[in-house]
Amino acid sequence: MGNLRKVILAYSGGVDTSACIPYLKNEYGVEEVIAFAADLGQGEELEPIRQKALLAGAKESLVDNLIEPFIRDFAFPAIRANALYEGKYPLSTALARPLIASRLVSLALEREAGAVAHGCTGKGNDQVRFDLAIASLAPQLEILTPAREWSMSRAELIAYGEKFGIPAPVTKKSPYSIDLNLLGRSIEAGPLEDPFEAPPEEVFQITSSIDNSPDEPKEIEIQFEAGNPIAIDGIHMDNVSLIRKANSLAGDYGFGRIDMIEDRVVGIKSREIYETPGLLLLIKCHQELESITLSADVLKTKVSLERQWADLVYQGFWFSPLKNAIDAFIDKTQIDVNGVVKLRLHKGNATIIGRKSLSNSLYLSDISTYGSNDKFEHKFAEGFIYIWGLANRVWASVSKKNQ
Ligand code: ARG
Repeated sequence: MGNLRKVILAYSGGVDTSACIPYLKNEYGVEEVIAFAADLGQGEELEPIRQKALLAGAKESLVDNLIEPFIRDFAFPAIRANALYEGKYPLSTALARPLIASRLVSLALEREAGAVAHGCTGKGNDQVRFDLAIASLAPQLEILTPAREWSMSRAELIAYGEKFGIPAPVTKKSPYSIDLNLLGRSIEAGPLEDPFEAPPEEVFQITSSIDNSPDEPKEIEIQFEAGNPIAIDGIHMDNVSLIRKANSLAGDYGFGRIDMIEDRVVGIKSREIYETPGLLLLIKCHQELESITLSADVLKTKVSLERQWADLVYQGFWFSPLKNAIDAFIDKTQIDVNGVVKLRLHKGNATIIGRKSLSNSLYLSDISTYGSNDKFEHKFAEGFIYIWGLANRVWASVSKKNQ
């Protein structure tokens, strides 16, 4: 191992990352652990978390509010990419990892630390995302991953922590593993491990159940500019307020719950529950607006690249040449994605009921109408179909002959 005098640790305040602090010092011989926690809008108070790292023996404990860059540089690009891993998961957890990794790296460079560390286990996706992002940004940095090496159960970890002054968690251990940020919540484990078992209502916190959602539907309008959401019901908002508003609107009406079997990078299928009301709503509206502002061939190409974009982000390749190249394609297309989408929220559904673009609509009523003002030249259809079907007719006549 290289220079392990100083290490920057991604810190969450949980049992694992807390145990990492004494473990790094005692087992790896690290002299100074600098803990770093990010505020990503998870709604947790971060000062107690900052203090806890110090209690656990960190030399310094830093907290950074990264909500604005998280939404601007990670959530909005995901909306522009209509990113849904395996067609379902809008990457709410995955998007946070390259941002945290880049802060770890810049802190390591600023503080001249020889290594960074995280508390991810060997079974998940997050270790892959952290390791790959760190390696792309600063290949010279060593990455320390105690939780991939120790073989302590949760009870053993708590006991280990207590030896070093880390208080045991006060609340009763929930059976669930939860990750949360402003984009949503991810819930795994406990009773959810039976994929045929319906998720108990207690796992949901930011979306209403169908029963508790309002009886009356609500119509809303979302406006986009260059593919970015900018206003809800005509009220312009900054990025973060817009996500918060979309979360509360969609969440109140019970929209944004996902129950899926997901393919992790490490080959495991896992049962995942998500609630990502705002992000899912915005992706749905964005997709709709693209249907009226982008040409058919661009749409078709974009759909296949979107799938790849989501795979890359899920699989840890946020910083990669292919992701950069796909981003360039997407950015080019988004210049035209301007307009408004109207939808109706009701009992878990967000139904699109209208879309318009004042500047970029490719929908022209002159040629699409069935009315009397039709400008479409019907007579050209015959010649078009003659040539369009020529190869097929040749094939049909030859196969008939050979019968
Ligand atoms: N499966 C999701 C992902 O890979 C979430 C992982 C974190 N969730 C958790 N409950 N610990 O992005």
